[in-house]
Amino acid sequence: MSVCVLGIETSCDETAASVVQGGRVISNIVSSSVALHREFGGVIPEVASRFHIEYLNRVVEKALKKSKKSLKKLDAIAVTHKPGLPGSLLVGTSFARALSYALGIPLISVDHLTAHVYANFLDKRNAVKFPFIGAVVSGGHTSIFVFKSLAEYTLIGRTRDDAIGEAFDKVAKILNLGYPGGPAIEKMARKYKLNSRKKPIKFPMALLGDDNYDFSLSGIKTAVLEYARNGRSVKKDLPRVSWSFQESVFDVFAKKIIDACKEFDMRRIVLGGGVVSNKRLCDKIAVHSKRLGFEFFYPKPALCIDNAAMVAGLGEELLQEKEGSIL
Ligand code: KG4
Ligand code: ZN
Repeated sequence: MSVCVLGIETSCDETAASVVQGGRVISNIVSSSVALHREFGGVIPEVASRFHIEYLNRVVEKALKKSKKSLKKLDAIAVTHKPGLPGSLLVGTSFARALSYALGIPLISVDHLTAHVYANFLDKRNAVKFPFIGAVVSGGHTSIFVFKSLAEYTLIGRTRDDAIGEAFDKVAKILNLGYPGGPAIEKMARKYKLNSRKKPIKFPMALLGDDNYDFSLSGIKTAVLEYARNGRSVKKDLPRVSWSFQESVFDVFAKKIIDACKEFDMRRIVLGGGVVSNKRLCDKIAVHSKRLGFEFFYPKPALCIDNAAMVAGLGEELLQEKEGSIL
């Protein structure tokens, strides 16, 4: 039997609420404070928390209105409780706790990273089967897991410094491409592909040949900075720099994912997180998957970036499997 769950997500700079029932997204509202962080080139935690305080109420109301469900129709509330910015998480978890108490319904705490992977199950839940190599590629995380179920998974690799999305944001700042950097770099890189007369720049590809699934992005970030500082006409070269940076990062990521599949004898890859909305990344993994006969899943862009549908959906799943920890 399906249950109706309200999801709440406030772990970073998106204030989000969603109603999900039976794994189907009935409403999915996201309000972002990204414009307030733009001038700083990164998320300012205090500003993000204040935005959540101001907008969460309205976002929840809008999600309920769009779903045509009243509060009385809700069976449970799911909320992201980790990882994330402490002040931001506190706004969402306090709100969710108070609402569940007032309504007398269960409150399920959801891990943000598991939710990013779960996003693949929404609206087409039978397509993805276990086990698989799952990875979260976002502004806060670059982590690879072996998933046996949504409640049983093992971390096998992670970044030792910057997350991939974070590196995109920092490199975009160096190149004056604005914030958030991921979409800006992807757009600029596309221009290089169209009229590529000069060869790609060879940026460092850290830990590529290492016998592990960890990442390090600080070297390539510094290399782009050096390149920009060396007085070359970077402005004219922006498409090539963006393309070369993107390729280097994604080639390392693709190799690690494929190596992980081979070592752990997995034939399925499931990705989630904001960076997965990058078409070049998905095309790359798709080519490798096809060549090796692997299945490859990734969510549509609206479910890659932070959203509450993934939180509500995972909450529903955990509640039914009695795996959810009630806050
Ligand atoms: O998952 P997400 O919305 O928030 C976190 O949990 O971190 O991911 C945001 C990150 C940002 O760093 C942003 O630059 C990156 O995802 N991103 C992208 C693209 N769209 C968003 N990175 C590369 N290419 C994109 N198209
Ligand atoms: Zn996220």
